[in-house]
Amino acid sequence: MKDWVAYYDSDHSIYVNDRHRDVHYARLADAIARYVPSPAAAVLDYGCGEALHADRVADAAGRLTLAEAGPAVRGRLIERFKGHAKILVISTDRVATLLPRSLDMVILHSVSQYLTPEEFERTVALFHRLLQPGGLLLVGDVVPPDASVISDSLALLRFGWRDGFFCAAVLGLVRTAFSDYWRLRTKMGLTRYGEQEMAGKLVAAGFRVTRAPANLGHLATRMTFLARKMPEAVRSAA
Ligand SMILES: C[S@@+](CC[C@H](N)C(=O)[O-])C[C@H]1O[C@@H](n2cnc3c(N)ncnc32)[C@H](O)[C@@H]1O
Repeated sequence: MKDWVAYYDSDHSIYVNDRHRDVHYARLADAIARYVPSPAAAVLDYGCGEALHADRVADAAGRLTLAEAGPAVRGRLIERFKGHAKILVISTDRVATLLPRSLDMVILHSVSQYLTPEEFERTVALFHRLLQPGGLLLVGDVVPPDASVISDSLALLRFGWRDGFFCAAVLGLVRTAFSDYWRLRTKMGLTRYGEQEMAGKLVAAGFRVTRAPANLGHLATRMTFLARKMPEAVRSAA
């Protein structure tokens, strides 16, 4: 396995069964939909993964662009949403060709840990260019330096207990321990940020930042940041 895009594009076992995958994407879509600023909003979900319930986000927005780097995942997204009038599926490479100031909201959920700090800075600068002044960038599932495998595993077990896939979660943890995930995580690591460090990066990129009261995903130890593009006048005076 070469990199994280190839891993998430493969037949991996991060979701322990279909129910886990479905509940994960349903909860995430509902959480994202609550942040959509208006029914006319143009929204981009960058590194959206399988986005099984992206139609719920599209229902709350004017249009939704799903950007995914993995060709197999992207192919399934195109197939799933081909009849949907509000959803467009593109590769992450094509995001740079979108019009400046054409978006009201961008989601980067559970992706920052797979980008190098330089890739993250370049990606956030691109989002800044694409957002309207006042537009919202939501950076979620940011892994803090002290996050442990044990707390992540316990959170998965709690999720499984609550949502009816506890036994599959136990088996899934064992399977993951012997999978490409661990080989890659050991080889490439995850990029981690402290709260101040992430907030500082987003401020430096021209955003006004607050931390959301709770992470969007089920891992309570991870962080979500709400970053608003500052109008140019405010930014140059700051
Ligand atoms: C854990 S999945 C997150 C999917 C979805 N956003 C979610 O929260 O469920 C990680 C995503 O990051 C994407 N990704 C990883 N490295 C990337 C890179 N260098 N450039 C673009 N996307 C990347 C993968 O393609 C995958 O869709």
